[in-house]
Amino acid sequence: MNETISRLKHEWDIVTEIKKVVQLTKRGQNFVGLCPFHSEKTPSFYVSPGKKIFHCFGCGENGDVISFVMKHDHLSFKEVVLEKAKEFNIPHQFSQNESESSSLDKLRAFLNSLQLQYVHWLKQNQDPMAYLQDRGLSNADMAMFGLGYAPESRVQQAWLKDNGWLEICKDTGLFKDDGYPLLQQRLIFPIHNSRGIIVGFSGRIINDSQLAKYINSPESAVFSKKKILYATHLAKSAIKNAQSCVVVEGYMDAISMHKRGINNVVGVMGTALTDGHAKELAKYTDNVTLLFDSDKAGQAAIVKSLDALLLNNLVVRVASINEKDPADFLEKNNSDVLNSVLDTAPIYMDFFIHKLIESGALDDPQKKSKGVMFLCEHLSKEKNKVIKDDYKRIISDKFSVSINVIESYLAPKSSSGYQPKIEIKTNSKFKKAEEVVGYLLVTDLEFRRKNLNDLQDLIPFLSVKEIFKQFEKSDAIDYEIINEIRDSEIRNFLVSLIIKFTELNISFKQTEMEEYKQILNQTKVESRIAEIRSLLADVQGNQEKELLIELSRLIKKIK
Ligand code: UTP
Ligand code: MN
Repeated sequence: MNETISRLKHEWDIVTEIKKVVQLTKRGQNFVGLCPFHSEKTPSFYVSPGKKIFHCFGCGENGDVISFVMKHDHLSFKEVVLEKAKEFNIPHQFSQNESESSSLDKLRAFLNSLQLQYVHWLKQNQDPMAYLQDRGLSNADMAMFGLGYAPESRVQQAWLKDNGWLEICKDTGLFKDDGYPLLQQRLIFPIHNSRGIIVGFSGRIINDSQLAKYINSPESAVFSKKKILYATHLAKSAIKNAQSCVVVEGYMDAISMHKRGINNVVGVMGTALTDGHAKELAKYTDNVTLLFDSDKAGQAAIVKSLDALLLNNLVVRVASINEKDPADFLEKNNSDVLNSVLDTAPIYMDFFIHKLIESGALDDPQKKSKGVMFLCEHLSKEKNKVIKDDYKRIISDKFSVSINVIESYLAPKSSSGYQPKIEIKTNSKFKKAEEVVGYLLVTDLEFRRKNLNDLQDLIPFLSVKEIFKQFEKSDAIDYEIINEIRDSEIRNFLVSLIIKFTELNISFKQTEMEEYKQILNQTKVESRIAEIRSLLADVQGNQEKELLIELSRLIKKIK
């Protein structure tokens, strides 16, 4: 396995991988961008292709390419290595040994088993089966979406107990301590991420009760409505082929389109699209058509979804139907009708212009000015220069407003264009010496072998026994050695040093080193002197005498 991993790390370029999800710009030896792990407006996320690491100076996340994908996509180490080894055609073998499974791997095993059991329960229960059949779903449709049924709590608890799942089931957020389920007597829709891994479930009531129509897995790092688009794993190849994607609002909408052969369809879960959703779609296509419910909530969600899509450079169209939602529409019309609605869906600007005119915006100055402002607000997010330019003119023509006015609405609100610079704090000589020496210890094995012992008492982080031992016994350099250190603060410190120094492209000479050692030594002596001075206040006799001798020796040393 070690060989698989080292070949993988060799062939797998960290910049190419991270560029899939972060816009990176070259700066010196490194690349910088906006951190995907916390929200920020000025870039503090650095990637070093040479050292094969990333580091965020804002939130402190760092690691190599494998840990990037693990963190970003919420995958286990094993899942990342297996997926990439396959992609790069690197032979691999993971033993079936349980001890290699992380807690995430175990959670996956439970979710898979639970899904199969839900399917089993569906087959045993007439009512939910009849409900699905009544809604026009065949056995093949149910299988394609993995639909199931969650029976009453007693049955579920017995199954959990019999199969030894009582501990792990709690980690899904779907069960309480004694296995009492959140989802019961509900139809089950498993929710997969884009890789087809199950990350959660949603349960729908099957008779009109006062209960919530759908209950979803609670939000967690693994399951987040803001990131997941329903049915992406089934739709992604169709989206690539069609070079367009249709987004609907609900599970049943997505299912009823897929079952009729319209496969480039994904669903939000009753929310607007987020930046995360838009980035996911942008991996497969540039064209997105929103086919949301015709009610007020659906129409509001269109407006709310727009900017995230535009800011990710997607061409957005909006389709309208004269039924409540696409699932209802397909009960009354065949798929050809829906296909032609989709094929002729207008660009979002045309959709809104048409709506505004329909609502009388041309005849009412107040409506008109509000409407033009609304259009410009969204057009200002448009990245496609041709589309933007076209619609400037179209808005100007249709609403008889001068281009100047439109331009003034579109003008970006002043942004500072501020670019943060990494600085080595030179105000403290000691700090600089510590940083240089730390950097060399990590990146230069020869330096480490020659100087480690001399430095042990001089560098604060080396006085942590475990860290010193690690440097002493390991021949690994760069991220490989950092990865072996358990103390996360020291790890962060060392990764940030690598980024800083490669950024500045500095090399160090042995003569400078002597100077640095001297600074470190002097600082150490000075702090001991200060310590002795404070101790002297409380001691007498022999102890006092010894301290005074040490003090005078130290003072001579630094003179
Ligand atoms: P809808 O109420 O439109 O449901 O909510 P639907 O998908 O059309 O389902 P049917 O046809 O009535 O069976 C749209 C989506 O909003 C989320 C679900 O993802 C649903 O598919 N939703 C809705 C919830 O999460 N909770 C709810 O209580 C309702
Ligand atoms: Mn609906």
